[in-house]
Amino acid sequence: MATDTTSQEKKKFDIKKPSGKLGVLIPGMGGAVSTTFIAGVEAIKKGIGRPIGSLTQMGTIRLGKRTESNSPLIKDFIELAKCSDLVFGGWDIFPDNCYEAALKAGVLEKDLLLKLKKQLEKKVPMKAVFSRDYIKNLDGPNVKKGKTKMHLAEQLIKDINTFKKDNGLERLVVLWCGSTEIFIKPADVHSTLEKFEKGLKENHKDIPPSMIYAYAAIKTGNAYANGAPNLSVDVPALVNLAKEKNVPTAGKDFKTGQTLMKTILAPGLKSRMLGVRGWFSTNILGNRDGEVLDDPYSFKTKEESKLGVLSTIFQPHLYPELYDQLYHKVRINYYPPRGDEKEAWDNIDIFGWLGYPMQIKINFLCRDSILAAPIVLDLVLFLDLAQRAGLDGIQEWLSFYFKSPMVGKGLYPEHDIFIQSMKLKNTLRYMKGEDLITHLGLDYYNLM
Ligand SMILES: NC(=O)c1ccc[n+]([C@@H]2O[C@H](COP(=O)([O-])OP(=O)(O)OC[C@H]3O[C@@H](n4cnc5c(N)ncnc54)[C@H](O)[C@@H]3O)[C@@H](O)[C@H]2O)c1
Repeated sequence: MATDTTSQEKKKFDIKKPSGKLGVLIPGMGGAVSTTFIAGVEAIKKGIGRPIGSLTQMGTIRLGKRTESNSPLIKDFIELAKCSDLVFGGWDIFPDNCYEAALKAGVLEKDLLLKLKKQLEKKVPMKAVFSRDYIKNLDGPNVKKGKTKMHLAEQLIKDINTFKKDNGLERLVVLWCGSTEIFIKPADVHSTLEKFEKGLKENHKDIPPSMIYAYAAIKTGNAYANGAPNLSVDVPALVNLAKEKNVPTAGKDFKTGQTLMKTILAPGLKSRMLGVRGWFSTNILGNRDGEVLDDPYSFKTKEESKLGVLSTIFQPHLYPELYDQLYHKVRINYYPPRGDEKEAWDNIDIFGWLGYPMQIKINFLCRDSILAAPIVLDLVLFLDLAQRAGLDGIQEWLSFYFKSPMVGKGLYPEHDIFIQSMKLKNTLRYMKGEDLITHLGLDYYNLM
């Protein structure tokens, strides 16, 4: 009788041990997400905080059949680096150290930050590669100078190598937590490495700072992930470079508040064949991210990232009667009094049996960076794992963490959080040569 596991695809990876220190370099190190992440890890290391929301720290993974009751913690099952192995660094256009920046971000309480002051003060951002041409509502003094974008890339490459050497690091992950840049479409300059490098030398306008960081990270043989909706590494030139250099990459845009809710709810509605006529999402947000997104050019990048989710989950081409008429609208309003404590409203107009209409309202009072910080930790640890397992190019199994997951040419991204979670866990099982879990389980029907 068929079980709910399959061993057909069984293969064990040769995963190198996570020995030594793991560097984490963050463009946007002084931002709300980065400082909440770094201070959070320091609090966890001190035993004064818990890693709630982190799959690598709190999640379990079922192995074998349901009857075997074998569900170890993920971190005990597969070789992950430990929080105590992480060494943080990064770049920001503001020179504030991590303690000052975390205080300004206003996400974590001052009492907690005071207990971490000694560790956080030591973390000072390096000069950033930045241009207001790509982020209109932001300016700061801690910025590199260079005649061409290639000169700037070379400075970043030097920063990365020096950081690695000075801290005696074995391995490194670079993760963009910088602001959202203006909307840029993939262009010819992004199509091959040759054209991209020529573009760097000629200061091509379609190469924004986030791409220069991605190039520097991958060129030096380090994993790169993108937490913002910017195109960044999601172009053939850089994905191919990642494959050539044997480096894993992932993106784009952390899936945290409203989109997390969407990708939890929409697959459920679809699985029950309930129709959706409209989905109106609005937010008020008062942090620096909100201020940057107040500029229509940066908002366009975010909007594109947020809008893709529903059409991919609902597949209107397969279910025109249920989803073809869906009107999807997303608004983000900058409202300073709220700070990082975003409030999101969703109004969903659905219809059921015989077309009768119904409504769902969601009012999510969330804390943006509190939701993002555990994602950053998981991505760092999983990208490092991928790197040690010899996986390169786009890591689709990490789609779980992104609003707008990167995928190979010709594929549509998987947005359904339940499929994403199954895919992630099956990838971990696969890496360790364990049976994959299909949830079929006909053999259990005979249990008495
Ligand atoms: N839940 C979330 O908070 C969430 C969810 C999804 C995506 N994001 C994205 O993550 C990013 C960070 O969010 P945040 O709330 O921390 O924003 P933030 O504005 O607090 O931090 C961004 C930081 O990036 C810095 N920066 C901008 N351009 C830079 C550059 N070229 N080089 C180095 N530093 C640069 C800024 O000075 C700032 O300190 C944003 O792009 C945001 O859209 C956040």
